[in-house]
Amino acid sequence: MKNLAKLKYLYKLKVSGVEYFEGFESKDTDIKMPNELEELEKICKNCTLCDLAKTRTNVVFGEGNPNAKLMFIGEGPGEMEDKTGRPFVGRAGKLLTKIINTVLELQRSDVYIANIVKCRPPNNRVPTIEEAQTCKPYLLKQIEIINPQILVCLGKTAFMYLLESDMPISKVRGQIFEYKGKKVIPTYHPSFLLRNPSAKKESYKDFLLIKSLL
Ligand code: URA
Repeated sequence: MKNLAKLKYLYKLKVSGVEYFEGFESKDTDIKMPNELEELEKICKNCTLCDLAKTRTNVVFGEGNPNAKLMFIGEGPGEMEDKTGRPFVGRAGKLLTKIINTVLELQRSDVYIANIVKCRPPNNRVPTIEEAQTCKPYLLKQIEIINPQILVCLGKTAFMYLLESDMPISKVRGQIFEYKGKKVIPTYHPSFLLRNPSAKKESYKDFLLIKSLL
């Protein structure tokens, strides 16, 4: 927690206008987090490290099987998620659940679902680099504790902030990347599929690939 306090202090300095050297960013290894998911959740639920804490209703930590082989990573909570404190429960979430059930032939309770940021960005805007960097240690610790074999990045934001790549999702979807010995498969975000039903064909292929790897 010492390092977390340091990060919080630096963040406060920054928002109050103090300039510190450019290269500062939270490194994965900088922050000591508890090794138990429940402890991590408690800390995360009290987090005030970034401005999203001011406008959130609930922290959306993530949910599912703590021993899941498959973990989904979304962008950040939307309105329904903010209201309920649960990930992917709105329209996009219903589509994700349907894909999990019908294509993967799994239950939501078999997998783990989390997001890059745990608090809703106002008006569902994309989380800023600062918000993502500040929140990322929670996700990295979730990944470490749950230790899934496969990480599915739902949409560009999840892929970009996890693997620090700005490749378009249309170029990377359906390919297998690697993060700390785990397979990372980016695919379209279910919200994108709701807006662009013709992309469901490609998405279906990605989920068949995921199924084949399980
Ligand atoms: N979109 C996301 O990226 N995450 C959620 O939890 C809900 C919608």
